[in-house]
Amino acid sequence: MEKENYRQVLYSQTTLNELMIPAYANFGGKIHGGILLSLMDKVAYACASKHAGNYCVTVSVENVDFLQPVDVGEMVSMYASVHYVGRTSMVVGIKVIAENFKIGTVKHTNTSYFTMVAKDDSGKPCEVPGLILENKEEVKRFLEAMKRRELRATYKTELQNARLALLTAPESALLEEERCFIKL
Ligand SMILES: CC(C)(COP(=O)(O)OP(=O)(O)OC[C@H]1O[C@@H](n2cnc3c(N)ncnc32)[C@H](O)[C@@H]1OP(=O)(O)O)[C@@H](O)C(=O)NCCC(=O)NCCS
Repeated sequence: MEKENYRQVLYSQTTLNELMIPAYANFGGKIHGGILLSLMDKVAYACASKHAGNYCVTVSVENVDFLQPVDVGEMVSMYASVHYVGRTSMVVGIKVIAENFKIGTVKHTNTSYFTMVAKDDSGKPCEVPGLILENKEEVKRFLEAMKRRELRATYKTELQNARLALLTAPESALLEEERCFIKL
């Protein structure tokens, strides 16, 4: 059943390609993680604002684990697509790969999830179109995003409870095996 104001995932899928130039390198000669994060934010914005047809802001970033370093001279490609939509928020999944043309390698460096919220002209969150899921992969991604949201809520509550428990009864025994000592 087709509904009004729903958009296909394909409609907003966005790819960003960027050559890694020496100015992006850290002191170790590898690409700064911050450069990659900034590019991911850019492609997440392009993808989310195309789906929403509106200005969007970044609310949270999940799963940023750089699994492999990126070198100067490599071509980084970022594939962004909307995985999930709520009322005003969207989760944009971004797969990042780095290609070395000289030695012919392709590395998957990370897959991260950006939560973006659409805003109207007065700066208030506004409703975004729904999502038409057209294959099993898109259904799986939507369900996974729902699960991550649920797990994040549980994690937040548990962390808050753990913090409160540590405040009331700090357990210095927990630190015995750690590389620190208490010097109050
Ligand atoms: C994100 C923001 C719009 C939320 O505003 P709010 O008044 O709390 O609005 P709401 O409670 O209606 O939340 C709006 C949506 O954001 C989602 N949201 C809010 N905080 C969130 C968080 N920490 N993680 C994921 N989603 C979040 C809500 O679930 C809601 O989604 P839904 O409409 O799909 O259900 C507001 O905090 C903001 O503008 N933050 C600054 C964002 C920004 O400027 N980013 C650039 C980097 S500085």
